[in-house]
Amino acid sequence: MDSLIVNSGRPLAGEITVQGSKNSSLPILAATVLVGGVCQIHNCPDLTDTQAAIAILRHLGCKVKTGKNTVTVDSSDVSCYNIPDSLMREMRSSIVFLGSVLGRTGKAELSAPGGCEIGLRPIDLHLSSLRVMGCRIEEDYGHIRCERVKENRTSVISLSFPSVGATENIILAAALSKGRTVIHNAAREPEIYDLVAFLNECGCKISFRMQGTVVIEGVKKLHGCRYSVMADRIVALTYMTGAAVAGGDITLHGVNTNHFRTVIPVFEAAGCCVEDRKSLLRIRSDKRLRAVRDIRTMPYPGFPTDAQAPVMAMLSVAEGTSVIIENIFESRFKHVSELSRMGAKIKIEGKIALIDGVRELYGTSVTASDLRGGAALVVAGLAAKGSTVIENISHIDRGYEKIEDCFKILGADIKRVN
Ligand code: UD1
Repeated sequence: MDSLIVNSGRPLAGEITVQGSKNSSLPILAATVLVGGVCQIHNCPDLTDTQAAIAILRHLGCKVKTGKNTVTVDSSDVSCYNIPDSLMREMRSSIVFLGSVLGRTGKAELSAPGGCEIGLRPIDLHLSSLRVMGCRIEEDYGHIRCERVKENRTSVISLSFPSVGATENIILAAALSKGRTVIHNAAREPEIYDLVAFLNECGCKISFRMQGTVVIEGVKKLHGCRYSVMADRIVALTYMTGAAVAGGDITLHGVNTNHFRTVIPVFEAAGCCVEDRKSLLRIRSDKRLRAVRDIRTMPYPGFPTDAQAPVMAMLSVAEGTSVIIENIFESRFKHVSELSRMGAKIKIEGKIALIDGVRELYGTSVTASDLRGGAALVVAGLAAKGSTVIENISHIDRGYEKIEDCFKILGADIKRVN
C-alpha cells in the first residue's frame, strides 16, 4: 500500500492545468451506454473511480479504449442489463448506471451501493422518481430490479432535496423515453450541466428552465460525439487551500471561474488574494491566515460539501475561531480526528465544527478516512512542522490524478512511497 510523505516549509509557486472532473466523468461515462455508437471523451481523469466505471462499461458489452485522458466507448452492442455486486462495490457512484442501463435496455438489475465513509447515502429519491416515470422496482437484500412497465406521456418529478445522483439518474433514464420528463428542484451542480451538454451533443433534448427545473424531451435515437469534460472544481479548490497554508503564488488553468463564486470570498476573508480571469485562477498568500466564520455547506451554488475538509485543514492554522456547518452529509467530519493528531484544535457539535486556529501543526503519521478528508491531510501536511506520513491513500487516488505530482510541480516537498 502506498503512502504520501509531505514536508512543509516551501511556499508554492507556479502554474498547473487542473485535471478533468471526476464527478462529471463518471455520469458521462455511464451516459455513453445510451448512445449506441462511438463517443470519445476527452479530459477524462485517470482515477481508480474512472477505471471502475470502465470495468462496468466493458461488462455491459461496450468496447472501451483508453489513451492519455481520452476514453473511447463504443456502446453499439450493449445487451446486458445487470451489474454484479463486485463491480458495483468498487465505487458508490456506480448507482448512476441504473438510469443509463434502464434508459438503454428498459430494465436494470444491480445492487444498492449502501452507506460509505461520509454517511448513509440512501437512494430513495432515485427510486421514487423512477417509479413516477413508470418503472416497477423490486428491492430485496440490497438487490434492485427495475423495469420500465409504462411509457408516460409526461412525468413530473419534484425532488424533496436537489440530489445530484438522483437528478443524473432521472435524466439518464428519461433521455430515450417516449415522453417528456420534468424535474423540479433538480440539482444545479456544474457537473449536471456538463452531463446535459454531453447528452445534447449526442442528440438529446434537455433544457434548463427556471431555477432548478429541467425538462427532458425523450428522443428515439442518439449518435456518438467527441466531448471534453470540464475541469474539476474541487481539485482546483484543494490546490488553492494548499497555496493558502504554504504561502506563495499559484495559477490554475482550465477552470470555469464561475464555479468558484461562493468559495472565492472564503479565501479572501482568510486573507488570500484571488484573481479570476476567464479560465484562470491565481491565488496569493503571504501572511498568516485569518479565521472565517459561518461557512455552510449547501447544494450548488452554495459552498460545496466536497471542499469542506480541505478548507477545514486550511482554517486549522488561521488566527481566530472559524465555524463550518456541514449540512449535506451526516458523517463528514472523519478527518477531524486526524487533523487533531497533528495539533489542530477542532470541536464538533453535531453538524457544527468550531476550529480554533493554531499557529502551527505538527507532522505525524495519519490515515485518510475518505477522498476529500485524505486531501485535507495533504493540505495540513503542507502547513505542519516536520514530516507528515499519510496512509490509506487509495481514498485520495479515487479523485486526484497523482496528487503528489501536481503539488510537486507547484514546488511542494511531497513524495509517494510504497
Ligand atoms: C454527489 C457527488 C459528491 C458530492 C455530493 C453533494 C458524485 C459522484 N458525487 O454525490 O462528491 O459530495 O453530490 O454535492 O457526483 N440523499 C437522500 N436520498 C437520495 C439521495 C440523496 O437522502 O435518494 C441525501 C444524501 O444522503 C445526502 C444528500 O442527499 O445527505 C446529498 O446527496 P446527493 O446530492 O445525492 O450526493 P451524491 O450524488 O451521492
